[in-house]
Parts: sequence; structure tokens; C-alpha cells
Amino acid sequence: METIKIGIIGYGYWGPNLARNFYELPTSELIVIADQKEEQLQRAQSKYPQIKLVRDYKEVFAMGLDAVVVSTPPKTHFQIAKDCLLHGLNVLAEKPLTLESQQAEELIELADSKGLILMVGHTFRYNSAIHAMKKFIENKELGDVYYIDTARLNLGLFNRDSNVLWDLAPHDISILLYMLNQKPISVSAQGMPCVTPGVYDVAYINLIFPNNLTAYVHVSWLDPCKVRRVTIVGSKKMAVFNDMAIEGKIKIYDQGVDAPDYTNGFGEFQYSYRHGDITIPNIKFVEPLREECQDFINSIINHTEPNSSARSGLHVIKILEAAMHSIANGCTQQVIKW
Ligand SMILES: NC(=O)c1ccc[n+]([C@@H]2O[C@H](COP(=O)([O-])OP(=O)(O)OC[C@H]3O[C@@H](n4cnc5c(N)ncnc54)[C@H](O)[C@@H]3O)[C@@H](O)[C@H]2O)c1
Repeated sequence: METIKIGIIGYGYWGPNLARNFYELPTSELIVIADQKEEQLQRAQSKYPQIKLVRDYKEVFAMGLDAVVVSTPPKTHFQIAKDCLLHGLNVLAEKPLTLESQQAEELIELADSKGLILMVGHTFRYNSAIHAMKKFIENKELGDVYYIDTARLNLGLFNRDSNVLWDLAPHDISILLYMLNQKPISVSAQGMPCVTPGVYDVAYINLIFPNNLTAYVHVSWLDPCKVRRVTIVGSKKMAVFNDMAIEGKIKIYDQGVDAPDYTNGFGEFQYSYRHGDITIPNIKFVEPLREECQDFINSIINHTEPNSSARSGLHVIKILEAAMHSIANGCTQQVIKW
């Protein structure tokens, strides 16, 4: 069996999850972990005593690797991913792929020119609940989709380098693009810097897709309740994915309302409400990150485009850039040039 030799760059909060998966997958071999901080390397050493540890990520270039995973802060992704691609390594970079669409385009061109896989860590594209929600839309189980609402809220983790749009919204935007399999025509957004001047900790993003389908993304580092929710409201039924639920993460509500036919008679003007069953589909759950890591390996072995391709990462960045532009210009509608 062909195995892919992997290095992890960045072993902070998220890096250990990636390291665990690549360590356990039979098709990959975890060779090295790089992190600038000594204490992170000590954590890695106690978990994986046999693996090489380095502080300077450039040392991994001489280790005969096939691929690297970049799980450092977003502002470092571009330079590290570029260096790695230039050294002939396939790259899985965490979300957001970069902080500028131009940088993402440059990386995509570089990877294509070298025949390397460049992928972004949009983990929800590997989530079985999101796969199920996508199917409900595609097979019209909910009827015509009126709108989609997403909420990703909690208290923290505050970050001075970034803002809540670039930190949390990539998840929801990637979910929307994946479920709808189309890109929005325009975007508007409102952002609030409540705690740190100039750093948005609460944001509302409004995306208009073809056929006037509208999606609302609410992200916040400043909310008393931890919420991870996607709601799809259709003409026949409504579906809610509550990622905080231990069981029954998806509920389908056979509920809705039909408007009355137009009539001049005031008394006959009645809406008919439907209050049917709430069903909980049985979803077989596998760790989405495991699926993502496996997709990276498979794409390298088979030379195929991963589900969470760098191009899908570029689309998310273009939407975030438009949202930032909208916030800076008084919540104006920004048409996106694709
Ligand atoms: N897919 C997901 O669900 C998910 C979840 C959390 C975080 N993330 C992403 O993972 C990435 C990392 O986030 P985090 O929360 O782990 O950040 P973190 O700050 O906890 O960890 C980053 C680590 O990178 C190291 N580092 C920074 N620059 C480096 C360099 N040049 N060379 C080597 N090491 C370097 C730091 O020392 C730190 O240990 C971010 O892009 C974030 O958006 C993704």
C-alpha cells in the first residue's frame, strides 16, 4: 500500500487534531511536526516520541516528505504554503486558505504548474449532517428553499490579529457554497467592533444567490450561548442542523404555512398553517476531519481534485473580501465578479 509522508506545521489548538488523524490513517506516515514554540513541541514529543520535531518549518524540506499540513495562524498561510509548494510538497492549508484572494490565486497557479495538490481545511464539506442537508435541498424534500440561516456564536476566542468574519464565517460560507452548489451574486454585511477597537467581534452577512435565494450568516465571539446551527426553510418543510446536540443533530419539521388565494372578501382571508411531525433522520457519523485527511491523501495518490479544493477556498475568500468591503461602505450590497 502506498503511504504518503506527512509533516505538520503548527501544533497549537487545531494542529494536534490533524496530527492524530494523519498518525492513525494507514495511508499516511507522520514524519515531522514543526512549531515555533518550544512548549508546543514538548506536547508533541510526549504524544509522539518517535516523530521528528523542528522549530523552523524550512527544515522539513530536507526530510523526503510528500505533503505538509499548514495549521498556523491565517496570516502565515500564504508564505508557508508558497514555500512548501516551491519545494515540491502537496499542501493542505487550514481555513481560511489565505487572507487575500490574489494570494490564493497565486498559490493555485503555483500548485497547478507543479502538478501538486493544494487543499483547504473546510471540514464541514466532510460532515455527514451537511451531506444530508445538501441532499434534502437537491431532492426537494423541503420544497423550494426560501432562505437559509446559519449561526455560529459563543463567548471567545478573541483574537487581535483577525476578526470574527475571517475566523468563524469561513465554516458557514463553505457550508452554503457546498450545499447549494452555486456561488452568490452579491453580499452585504454589518460588523461590530464591541470589545477591541477596529476588530469585528459580531457580524451579520447576507448573501444573495441566483433565483433570489437568500442566506444569512451570523457569527459572534460575543454571545452568552454557544450556538452552531444551520436552518433551511423550504416551502414544504424546514430542516435544522444543530451541531451542539449530542443526538438527533438534524430535525426535519413538517411545518409551514400556505398563503390564501387572493380574494376581495376580508373574512375569507386566512393563512393555513401546517403543524406536522418532527422527524430525526438516522445519520451515520464519522469524524469529518478523518474524512478530510483521507481525501487529501487520496487526491495525492490518485491525482484528483479534493472536495475541499483550493478553488473552493478562493471562493470563500472572495465572499469575505466583499463582506469586508460592504462593512467599510455602510453595509452596501457588493456584486461579486467571479
Ligand atoms: N477546520 C477547523 O475546524 C479549524 C478549527 C480551529 C482552527 N482552524 C484553523 O487552524 C489554524 C490554526 O489555528 P489554531 O487555533 O490552532 O491556532 P494556534 O494559535 O492555537 O496555533 C498555531 C500554532 O502555529 C505555530 N506557528 C505560528 N507560526 C509558525 C511558523 N512560522 N512556523 C511554525 N509554527 C508556527 C504557533 O506557535 C502555534 O503553536 C487556523 O488557520 C485556524 O483558522 C481550523
